[in-house]
Amino acid sequence: MTINDTQPAGAGIELVGLQKTFRSAQGPVHAVRGIDISIAPGETVALLGPNGAGKSTTIDMLTGLSEPDHGEVRVLGTSPTEAIRRGRVGAMLQNGGLLGYISVRELLMMLSSFYPKPLPVDEVMRITGIGDIAERRTNKLSGGQTQRVRAAMALVSNPDLLILDEPTVAMDVEGRHTFWQAVRAFAQGGKTVLFATHYLEEADQYADRIILMARGQVVADGSSGEIKAAVGGRTMRATIPDADLAALAQLPGVTSTDSRGEQVIFACTDSDAAVRALLSGYPHAKDIEISGAGLEAAFLALTGDQHDEPASEQTQGVAS
Ligand SMILES: Nc1ncnc2c1ncn2[C@@H]1O[C@H](COP(=O)(O)OP(=O)(O)OP(=O)(O)O)[C@@H](O)[C@H]1O
Ligand SMILES: [Mg+2]
Repeated sequence: MTINDTQPAGAGIELVGLQKTFRSAQGPVHAVRGIDISIAPGETVALLGPNGAGKSTTIDMLTGLSEPDHGEVRVLGTSPTEAIRRGRVGAMLQNGGLLGYISVRELLMMLSSFYPKPLPVDEVMRITGIGDIAERRTNKLSGGQTQRVRAAMALVSNPDLLILDEPTVAMDVEGRHTFWQAVRAFAQGGKTVLFATHYLEEADQYADRIILMARGQVVADGSSGEIKAAVGGRTMRATIPDADLAALAQLPGVTSTDSRGEQVIFACTDSDAAVRALLSGYPHAKDIEISGAGLEAAFLALTGDQHDEPASEQTQGVAS
């Protein structure tokens, strides 16, 4: 498949059939094994996955830092390098330092001078919470302060697309909060955000959509609610004396029932429908509780238990 070259300039991200293999002394590592992702302008998307899932490898190809072995990458309707050259992409990569021996303000002023429509440096420092360290030299910053400055560097060009690879690592609670508020404000202006994380709560709270990666592939793609529902459904419990389990299993939204004494446990695909039907058909049911499968359960179910396994392959010659 190829990507339509007439894609409008306002387009988001298009990844088609993306593959990347690294050579190592232990043999090939198939870091990315055929990824197709389409992200519309204005979406905030989390790339979630365990260590070694291929998130950074994907982001490196999106930012033009590495070339795919197979497949195509389009960013804002053009190539990654062209989109970055035009100042339309702000990126905060997983590994990256700061230019030393100049102040935070000087660094941001210098960067902003490269771009056609930068944000005011003072505003960027305010929204990333670094106003009080503006005059400090970049080689004197703490780990979390360095992360905040790197976030400011990604924002200063006033990009249309913000790409963040595990941006809040090393930030304290307040730093994370400030950071996500800044990202949210940015996204509300209709901009596109893609961030990699393995913090489930960050994906859950800040993304419209979660793309779950494991072993170089996309294993789930949807809202956090959809991903949770695809895996776990919900459990409803209610106390119902002399319950007829077979009849209760026929309620709308219920897949099966079980009991512990007078308590009936319902496995539900649609707990809203189930609770309504229960209350109307069994008004004496009481102590009703509904619990959801969390994103963590979904994450574990979908990514398997090989969290630290490199994405090495048994089959040879997938990509080189
Ligand atoms: N330059 C490289 N040479 C060899 N193998 C590499 C290279 N870069 C990445 N890999 C391997 O590719 C796989 C995917 O790595 P990647 O950095 O994309 O994972 P990730 O999802 O970003 O993980 P993390 O959450 O730890 O940042 C890993 O198994 C990694 O060891
Ligand atoms: Mg990574």
